[in-house]
Amino acid sequence: MISKATAPGKIIIFGEHFVVHGTRAIVGAINKRVTITSEKNDTATISISSSLGKTTIPITEEVDTVEKKFRPFFFIAKEVINDYNFKNGITIDIQSDIPIGAGLGSSSACCVAAAASVSNLFSRTDISQVLDLAIDAERTIFPKTSGADCTVSALGGIIEYQKEHDPKAIKTEHDFDFVVVNSQKMHNTDAVVSRVNKFKDDNADVFSELCTEEDNLITKAISSLQTFDLETVGKCMSQNQIFLEQLGVSNDILLSIVKLVEKDTFGAKITGAGDGGCIIALTEKNKKDSILEHIKVEYESYPVTIDKVGMQVFNTN
Ligand code: PMV
Repeated sequence: MISKATAPGKIIIFGEHFVVHGTRAIVGAINKRVTITSEKNDTATISISSSLGKTTIPITEEVDTVEKKFRPFFFIAKEVINDYNFKNGITIDIQSDIPIGAGLGSSSACCVAAAASVSNLFSRTDISQVLDLAIDAERTIFPKTSGADCTVSALGGIIEYQKEHDPKAIKTEHDFDFVVVNSQKMHNTDAVVSRVNKFKDDNADVFSELCTEEDNLITKAISSLQTFDLETVGKCMSQNQIFLEQLGVSNDILLSIVKLVEKDTFGAKITGAGDGGCIIALTEKNKKDSILEHIKVEYESYPVTIDKVGMQVFNTN
């Protein structure tokens, strides 16, 4: 049997960084996906192939010693093999249309799709088990992850996420249109999260005040998302950008992109860790093309909408 699973990338609409410290975030799954196929093989190895390369690793290898780009997949396969006391190996193939290292959740979508695909080789997939396995896999390369990215990738739609709480779906019939602009500057999430930790240690009162303001903003944003009040959602996004600037995760390039897109959209902000990666802007559906036309002269940019489905699993023979 070949087991195939797909999972979407994500945008953080509100609350990145603050979410790591226990504040709520609003995260949306996007219509860009990773597709992973897996198959049992009759060797004692785990083979992994993606656009980043190919490898074959003995099952006895320690997870920590595996190259980072393959590590979460190896971890997932090894966990499932051990759980089911399977005597042979697994072959995993990854195809993705999510840009890598841009803050669009490529690695978490990979973890969710791989956890779903590999688990499905042995049993019916259970979404909460898949999600736990995916978050553990992501922690092999990013120990501080809040879990927000994997959660929205598994569930789809727009969710309110807070660590140690069950995620809440933000129910809306409406379609939201965003423009994503890639700064083409790779960022290192771990390094930026560590920098924010230092900011928090050095400025405890300012940080605590920012968390309170972010939480208030999120309350306002949730009701505006539910009533499809795009003006207010956009204003909240611009305000969130100011909070991120105060945390020190923006820079001149990101700010110039925000300013460029802000004037033709409802609002714009960094999405993800910052330092590089992408900017998102909320647009009107019929204005999207002209905005993209204008931006793409300078930057790689694309339209995204919210994926309502989340992870999906298929069996093929
Ligand atoms: O840039 P990304 O996609 O790795 O997003 C990081 C978001 C943070 O809030 C900074 C970290 C997290 O795990 O939520």
